[in-house]
Amino acid sequence: MQIIKVKDSVVGGKKGFEVFKQALANGAKVFGLATGSTPETTYTELRNSDLDFSQCVSLNLDEYVGLQPDNPQSYYRFMHEHLFDAKPFKHNYLPNGMAPDIVAETARYEELLSENPIDLQLLGIGRNGHIGFNEPGSPFDGKTHKVKLTQSTIDANSRFFEHEEDVPRYAISMGIGSILSAKQILMEAYGEKKADAVKAMVEGPITPDCPASALQKHPNVIVIVDEAAASKLN
Ligand code: PGA
Repeated sequence: MQIIKVKDSVVGGKKGFEVFKQALANGAKVFGLATGSTPETTYTELRNSDLDFSQCVSLNLDEYVGLQPDNPQSYYRFMHEHLFDAKPFKHNYLPNGMAPDIVAETARYEELLSENPIDLQLLGIGRNGHIGFNEPGSPFDGKTHKVKLTQSTIDANSRFFEHEEDVPRYAISMGIGSILSAKQILMEAYGEKKADAVKAMVEGPITPDCPASALQKHPNVIVIVDEAAASKLN
């Protein structure tokens, strides 16, 4: 793992942008993308840049089950607002959380991933070390699957919804195995609430108790952390 320490998420976004730019220059065509507050500064830099993704495809990590694409909290909507509307790709794939058969949808998505192997995968980390919606205990060889969200994730995400009961209970997520198939991984983490998870990811044992510790097994990972998120690292 290459660790890049920065002052804050604004500088982190500029570093993240550089990683995307370099990947494009090296011929990357398939980008794995993430939602949440963490990637926002990187997306801002990408939106404001002249990088051309029109010959590229993107595949997102996850999507809620049961939200229409135009729901303000859907990840489809998030990605359009933060990136796709300003920066067109040849195609943007997200899991379809409205598919009538969710299990068939997870298989379709995994098929898309094998047809479009990811060159660069962007990730955030949960306070409990989750990546995508892969909570502690998820298998390291997991593929795209339907997830029952844990109460801690429902609580964390309820800040975006009017009522806690509006937070979806299920999601579709790429598995840890799908994530590890990416050629390169860019993990960003900001804020002191991520400090324990960052320490476990970088310095802890490789264990499903911390899903992000699986990244220690990957040969090409860049971690961008601000001072607060890095504060517990030795
Ligand atoms: P956040 O979420 O970027 O909103 O902190 C990250 C995650 O839970 O994976």
